[in-house]
Amino acid sequence: MSLRRILTTLAVSLLSSATAWSGEWAKLSEDGVHDPRGPAIGLLQQPGDALSNLPGDGAGNQVHWIKALRSGVIRPRPNIDPAREDRRLDKDIYLDLYGSMPSVRFPHLAHTEWLDCTNCHDQLFLPKRGANGISMFLILQGQQCGVCHGAVAFPLTECSRCHSVRNHIAQRIVAELEAEEARKAAGGGSKEAGSADAPRGAPAKPPKDARGGAR
Ligand code: HEC
Ligand code: HEC
Ligand code: HEC
Repeated sequence: MSLRRILTTLAVSLLSSATAWSGEWAKLSEDGVHDPRGPAIGLLQQPGDALSNLPGDGAGNQVHWIKALRSGVIRPRPNIDPAREDRRLDKDIYLDLYGSMPSVRFPHLAHTEWLDCTNCHDQLFLPKRGANGISMFLILQGQQCGVCHGAVAFPLTECSRCHSVRNHIAQRIVAELEAEEARKAAGGGSKEAGSADAPRGAPAKPPKDARGGAR
């Protein structure tokens, strides 16, 4: 899809959005969400009191949450259920290698420090590179990455936080990764007799429409 169509969609969605932050956190009584006459309004902590001590950001709710996490200012509990395993994955996925914009680096780590695998797999995304037909148009409609970005994570106006890697560099990284996977597939196939997982490394580029039917 064209850049112009994306920018038009974005402009329309920005104009129609209700709350625009303008350098300060609205008081709860004025945020258009809380009932100013409700009894809780005097008890709840004001966003400005809670958020102003965290690393700032010009967009969204004005907190740079990744900086807050990395600097240790906040330490989110990995799980409410202590028995449950804390699953993290340090694996970047590169998307949009040949578009008009810089390529997108999706960092699994920055996500799995807050989220469980099941927040995304398999409802939002199949855990398979290239299998989800990810597109900016759908993201702007609030699907895919847009389920969270623009809602609970930094907004879609921050193009360069996603489109962060120059195309030729992303292309090289992916080419190396695919070569590595092909080597492993070939090596694993010959060493382990009758290897059950031989097909796993096989297709470097899975079909685009592997999502199957609706859930
Ligand atoms: C939350 C992450 C995220 C943000 C923020 C984001 N994009 Fe994207 N964008 C993506 C992903 C993911 C794709 C699809 C990658 C693919 O084609 O496989 C994409 C694809 C695109 C494409 C189509 C492919 C291309 O490069 O021509 C355009 C154009 C685009 N984005 C423009 C923008 C613009 C302009 C902004 C800011 C106003 C923006 N994006 C913000 C994640 C994002
Ligand atoms: C915030 C969403 C999100 C979370 C949380 C998440 N993933 Fe993913 N995962 C993705 C996306 C997006 C892709 C790429 C899909 C594509 O290219 O179409 C992906 C791809 C994968 C792949 C395929 C990698 C490859 O090279 O083919 C695996 C395996 C995977 N994820 C495992 C996990 C595991 C294990 C966890 C939890 C520790 C996890 N993911 C958490 C979004 C997520
Ligand atoms: C289930 C919710 C969810 C989905 C889906 C999701 N994200 Fe995120 N993402 C987050 C949260 C939460 C953060 C951390 C808070 C923040 O930065 O606003 C984050 C942070 C990021 C960061 C910042 C990493 C850093 O080191 O600064 C990038 C880049 C990003 N997401 C890209 C994507 C892309 C691209 C997709 C789609 C392929 C996507 N996200 C889908 C929730 C999500």
